[in-house]
Amino acid sequence: MDSIRIRGGKPLYGKIEISGAKNAALPLMVACLLTEETVTLSNLPHVADISTLINLLCQHGVKAHLNGNGCSSGRSVALAATDITSTEAPYDIVRKMRAGALVLGPLLARVGKAKVSLPGGCAIGTRPMNLHVDGLEAMGAEIHIEGGYMVAEAPNGLKGAEIRFDTVSVGATEDLLMAATLADGVTVLENAAREPEITDLVHLLRAMGAEIEGDGTDRLVVTGKKSLHGAEHRVMPDRIETGTYAIAAAIAGGRIELHNTDAELINAVLEVLEEAGVSIERTDDGLIVERDPATPIHGVDILTQPYPGYPTDMQAQIMALMSVADGAAMITENIFENRFMHVPELSRLGANINVHGRSAMVRGVPELVGAPVMATDLRASVSLVLAGLAAKGETVINRVYHLDRGYERLEEKLAACGADIERIQESA
Ligand code: EPZ
Repeated sequence: MDSIRIRGGKPLYGKIEISGAKNAALPLMVACLLTEETVTLSNLPHVADISTLINLLCQHGVKAHLNGNGCSSGRSVALAATDITSTEAPYDIVRKMRAGALVLGPLLARVGKAKVSLPGGCAIGTRPMNLHVDGLEAMGAEIHIEGGYMVAEAPNGLKGAEIRFDTVSVGATEDLLMAATLADGVTVLENAAREPEITDLVHLLRAMGAEIEGDGTDRLVVTGKKSLHGAEHRVMPDRIETGTYAIAAAIAGGRIELHNTDAELINAVLEVLEEAGVSIERTDDGLIVERDPATPIHGVDILTQPYPGYPTDMQAQIMALMSVADGAAMITENIFENRFMHVPELSRLGANINVHGRSAMVRGVPELVGAPVMATDLRASVSLVLAGLAAKGETVINRVYHLDRGYERLEEKLAACGADIERIQESA
């Protein structure tokens, strides 16, 4: 397994092009199952989860054509689900990437059946599928669990329904939204997630002929159609990648320009950075983040919440920054029950963090010191990279395949800004 070696303590100066959003691209790709015609997506990030999902879609019968080299303009993919040849999403793929389970609603809506593996738990929590299942059952599907699979049928098609989520769920909102576009009648989704990735999905579905109202709000109203057609769509910029590099500039000090993105998407993160003493300038195509390495970071309390609140996918990164703050910060994780796997690893670098239930008390230390650490999930891994940029001496992050799932050319982008970072390839 590859690892990443960082020699910390260098301020960062330069420009970074932000890639297309992984968490937008995955549901957008799944939406191809809703039509016989071709869906073409551009600004696709070049990350491992995208390839995993292409494999899953291909085994459902989708024909996929990838173009471009994955540099700043992004790759594009043309996906044609002319014939669905298999309705089974196997455990081997879904357990690795939970977004694979999003095929449940679209397959049921398009062909009336699906057999999709339960994703199981993962490093950040149990991550159940009950909201997806309950919603599809309310739309007339019959679903039972057999051998670890959700076996679903809707022989007479799905019917519009009024569904109220008791927890805000990005995935369940996306799954039911896609299913509703081909249901008979009107579906109302209440307490729907409002993440920008959902709005991006609404834009594609509309371009495919779907009738949807309420995007950007917690109430989505979908009038089902008999069929949808092909469309072209550009994947939105990755707000989590944007926020991650903003924190890189904050923790290492220096000045980084982030291009091809939109500061508005991560306002909650930028407000915290400004409160911590980091300078942010919003520009036409992104932002400029600046901190004089001699200026201290102030401790700021953080509470993760559904959008537009502070994102859970930026919790580990801000914890790395708060580890070197002048003061203390209380970080509370409200979305997942077990998303503090980075704490023992940050502690290995000298951070002073105590976890009490869903909250972590971070007491800033004057400096971190490099050490070998282990990546446990995507955002935990990148928090170790950020900590390594600030730490004195050498930090080696092992098991970086987690990073490759969601960050495109991470070490190249940081090295271009002056970071001393390199990938150590696994020896054969
Ligand atoms: C999406 O996961 C993202 N993944 C996650 O990003 C992100 O952390 C999460 O949303 C929250 O913002 C993708 O978009 C591919 P949820 P998702 O359903 O949709 C509970 C990353 O690092 N819940 O919004 O799976 C669930 O347990 C990843 O890029 C139920 O109770 O998350 C959690 O507590 C990690 N029942 C809460 O809802 C359900 O049926 C929110 O989860 C579904 C979810």
